[in-house]
Amino acid sequence: MKKHAARHLITAALPYANGPKHIGHLAGAYLPADIYSRFLRLCGEEVLFVCGSDEHGTAIPIQARKENTGPQAIIDKYHELLKSNFKELGISFDVYDRTSAPHHHETAAEFFTELQARNLLTEQLSEQYYDETAELFLADRYITGECPKCANPSAFGDQCEKCGSSLSPKDLKNPKSTLSGNPPVLRETNHWYLPLDRYENWLREWLLEGHKSDWKTNVYGQCKSWIDSGLHPRAITRDLDWGVKVPGAEGKVLYVWFDAPIGYISATKKWASENGQDWKKWWKSEDTRLIHFIGKDNIVFHCIIFPVMLHAHGGFILPENVPANEFMNLEGDKMSTSRGWSVEMNEYLEAFPNRSDELRYCLTSNMPETKDSEFSWKDFQQKNNSELVGILGNFINRILVLCDKFYKAQVPQSSACSELEEVMRSHLNAASLALKDYRFREGLQEVMNLARHGNKILTEAEPWKTIKTEPEKAAAALFDGVQIAATLSIALQPFLPGTAKKLADFLNLNTDSLQWKDAGNPSLLSPGHPLASSGLLFSKIEDDLIEIQMNRLKAKLIPAEEITIKPSVPAFGPEITYDDFAKLDLRCGTILTAEKVKNADKLLLLQVDLGLEIRYIVSGIAAHFAPENLPGTRVSVVANLAPRKIRGIESKGMLLLAEKPGGQLVFVSPPEHTENGSVIR
Ligand code: 2FM
Ligand code: ZN
Repeated sequence: MKKHAARHLITAALPYANGPKHIGHLAGAYLPADIYSRFLRLCGEEVLFVCGSDEHGTAIPIQARKENTGPQAIIDKYHELLKSNFKELGISFDVYDRTSAPHHHETAAEFFTELQARNLLTEQLSEQYYDETAELFLADRYITGECPKCANPSAFGDQCEKCGSSLSPKDLKNPKSTLSGNPPVLRETNHWYLPLDRYENWLREWLLEGHKSDWKTNVYGQCKSWIDSGLHPRAITRDLDWGVKVPGAEGKVLYVWFDAPIGYISATKKWASENGQDWKKWWKSEDTRLIHFIGKDNIVFHCIIFPVMLHAHGGFILPENVPANEFMNLEGDKMSTSRGWSVEMNEYLEAFPNRSDELRYCLTSNMPETKDSEFSWKDFQQKNNSELVGILGNFINRILVLCDKFYKAQVPQSSACSELEEVMRSHLNAASLALKDYRFREGLQEVMNLARHGNKILTEAEPWKTIKTEPEKAAAALFDGVQIAATLSIALQPFLPGTAKKLADFLNLNTDSLQWKDAGNPSLLSPGHPLASSGLLFSKIEDDLIEIQMNRLKAKLIPAEEITIKPSVPAFGPEITYDDFAKLDLRCGTILTAEKVKNADKLLLLQVDLGLEIRYIVSGIAAHFAPENLPGTRVSVVANLAPRKIRGIESKGMLLLAEKPGGQLVFVSPPEHTENGSVIR
């Protein structure tokens, strides 16, 4: 964290307003951003937490066609739904804006114009499919045709849903426009590109060197492999009629991923104008920290493309951190709205009214901070019943009931035991360190440890017995318990805001002016202070409710053959025997040198150290890797492939590569501490 940050600008990914969002999205971006914002506010820091609906991109008109309506009706409907779901779940945005708003169109168009005017964009002509009847250039999803790989007659321009191949529209045989049903024609069209390649050195310095030690390894690793595999100019305009109009270019709009992150700036402007503030202090002042909360599928956009946009434009601060989360699975399978394997936020809220904190608790305990995690209804029930009811709720209820019974619902006349403050402060410090470091699961556990400690005090002192034999001991235990409860009413605020408020009400404690630093004070409530006579923070969730959710989930699942959006990976290949596999001799190696093959755009000539010998290998990877970055890269090699002459060079072996979404290739690297020549089995 910057030492002298004056303020914190927190963003959470703008969700597409094309449908409800599921609890995996909540756990990925919105909940951690909310906990972090609430925590900083509680520490007395100046925070602005911005979000809003992403209302552009082809996802919107496509959903409109599915629902037989127009794009405006879709965004109006889902913007309202998302906004109200977030509110009910306690997500404390300072502003929830929308990218269809005129002030956003203006901000995004101005940003583009500035880059264009300063020659920071490039222009390029390319051929794209055009529907002459509808008089439109066609987005990839609007073209269908025969898949060149599996002959599926209704593959889309970007993907075949049957075999999973990634396609581009020109790969399709007999292409047809889904708008008119007619074959489209190829037409030249001009687009603007953000030349990412020009910023490679800058990205290496700012990101790869500057954030090596403070960004999460999952985030840093993804960025590094993206940069290492070569940066290319990226089209930032589209021929569409839905989006932010490109100034001076009829029929063109900004690519949704160009305008959406600018939405964070527009949202800030909206908030500032409504609150008599200057938005520039949030975006242009070096003492503001900018933190983006997102899911892992948004990493490249927030860590590379948007920072390049901000840097190219100049005058803006850059993100200090992008603590992206991995994904949350559901009952052992990937969460997916289109497959019906999901729990949507609105579905949860309908099924469990007034139980937002219960979901927040379960999602935070399982937050996918370093790897994919798992939500299951049984675990949700178990966490509610044994942790919220059993530990936290039970502790508070025992305190209130015992004080009611023995001390007329007042804080007993006593004082805190000598080590109470130290124990509380130690959990609170651990929680605070974890929260500052984006480790929310641990932060929550440390706060729950306060309640665990409270239960231990009661169990050991048994005030219900000692009240007769050792009344001072009973009073002391309950006094300590009451102070822990008061501390909890502060420390729970970032995680379970509704519960924290309810608890403060039970304790008759006004926490409005209290801060995180006040938590841990062992005399927050004085002897004689009146308390509520009893109170339940949580109630048990019975099996039948969970069964209803499981049945609902199974009923919603769309059978595999009916799924319209397939994973982007191809189908499995034909079966082979073990003997087929055993013929392969796979070895670990290291690239020593790499150079382009003359007159061959796609080929690189590599020297690879395979332990037993150094081999020449010709590989068709020139479009994916810059040769100067390759020496030292560990690779896996098929070592016993028959030698082949390629462009007059004898190539002895083949490198293993994997394809990333979008088609970029990465090396299948051997694990650390393996030797060159080690056998891969
Ligand atoms: O992946 C998504 O849901 C995008 N709508 C996120 C956009 S985040 C930001 F750039 F606005
Ligand atoms: Zn196919």
